[in-house]
Amino acid sequence: MRRFQMLINADDRYAQIRREIYGHFSEHLGRCIYQGIYVGEDSPIPNIHGIRCDVIEAFRQINMPVLRWPGGCFADEYHWRDGIGAKSARKKMVNTNWGGVLEDNSFGTHEFMELCELIGCEPYIAANVGSGTVQELAEWIEYMTFDGVSPMAELRRENGREKPWRVRYVGIGNEAWGCGGNMRPEYYADVYKRYQSFCKNYSGNTLYKVACGPSGDDWNWTETMMQNLRSGGNWAADAIALHFYAVPDWNHKGLAAEFDEADYYTLLGTVNRMDELLTRHTEIMNRYDPEGRVALFVDEWGTWYDVEPGTNPGFLYQQNTMRDAVMAALSLNIFNRHAKRVKMANLAQAVNVLQALLLTEGEQLIKTPTYHVFDLFKEHQGGDAVYCFTQNVPACDGRQLPMISASASVKDGTLTLTAANCSLSEEAELHCRICGSAYTSVSVQLLTEDAHAYNDFAHPDRVTPAAHSAALENGMLTLKLPPCAVAAVTLR
Ligand code: AHR
Repeated sequence: MRRFQMLINADDRYAQIRREIYGHFSEHLGRCIYQGIYVGEDSPIPNIHGIRCDVIEAFRQINMPVLRWPGGCFADEYHWRDGIGAKSARKKMVNTNWGGVLEDNSFGTHEFMELCELIGCEPYIAANVGSGTVQELAEWIEYMTFDGVSPMAELRRENGREKPWRVRYVGIGNEAWGCGGNMRPEYYADVYKRYQSFCKNYSGNTLYKVACGPSGDDWNWTETMMQNLRSGGNWAADAIALHFYAVPDWNHKGLAAEFDEADYYTLLGTVNRMDELLTRHTEIMNRYDPEGRVALFVDEWGTWYDVEPGTNPGFLYQQNTMRDAVMAALSLNIFNRHAKRVKMANLAQAVNVLQALLLTEGEQLIKTPTYHVFDLFKEHQGGDAVYCFTQNVPACDGRQLPMISASASVKDGTLTLTAANCSLSEEAELHCRICGSAYTSVSVQLLTEDAHAYNDFAHPDRVTPAAHSAALENGMLTLKLPPCAVAAVTLR
């Protein structure tokens, strides 16, 4: 057992943790949309206009704040007009990025917007820059948001939607440095500015425009974007979006549930690089934008393993273990600590793809360990991040991975502390001095299991949170964390 001193100053609020940091991503990839989210109106699986009821319920439970769609790489070959109107007449296409399967466009703009309404989350539209046109994007915005008389608003009404939707977030291109067009940052910055010029604010809807940001540690991408994103004295983008997947070796990814101790620590060490990435990209942004007008999003993050044996390699279906839960906790704590510049993050992806929240098989649905972490952390949404110092040691000799990961926030008189013990062998005892406000009650929810444990359709609740004990006396919180555990502590 190792003892750790911690200090939280509940009065030292340094940034609001935007709800969108707890955001998600749904791409037309594998079984994310079809079968995962959308089963069609004729399905025996309970649904609302084809959208699975169990999925809606699960997303609502974690207060999902924002959902990104339709890609990913898919976004840059998506033509929105193919996904509106009578389903039988919708154009079919090949999903060239993901398995070459047929895409029948039965899930399109109306279905996605209804999904967001049912969840109660903001839609985040990823627009096609790679193979689309400026006019196509301009008309999509008009179709979704214009309330008056116009060709696109009329078309929307013909398709059964009288009132416009509210669309706050629009991403202009995805991975422009890769699948989105293989562009140089100098070239993309100009393309971005051209496309965004025609994304208009209609009928009281104000767009928040997101430019493609760097891949991992591509500092030059961030530098070049920040040099070029000013237009007429104003910033042409509200955010740039970083992508970073926790993959130690792309040639040997391994299976989600098959790993040894060294693999576990190597993966979490890679996850922890997110801290350095956010620090250094923020430093670059600070030089050009000290006022913090342009946010840093992380609109794709997560683990990426080999696909489960026997599944389509293009579908990116992987299991999700307690290791992924610790990974998620580590990442979310890092995002919370960077809340001054980081205003959105989107886990890849919501259902049946990569580090999924939910896995489905026919009518069955399970919540993954990662899902439970989002549930445990949800009280941070909209809270104020507060100073939280943790004494630390490496989780394992010779690794750049602290054993304890933590962050704290306050909201409506409640303090939320989330902590993970990354060690596989050592228990931790946290002694946390709480300064500032006085709290009198404490409750804890704990997620812990063997790192390899996962939920499957025969054992849907093998990894599930449970109440845990802690003591609070005279402003001193004492809490034991077993190895490989994630806790959410609520002080009132
Ligand atoms: O999330 C899977 C893919 O990863 C996305 O389509 C792409 O943007 C990224 O490379």
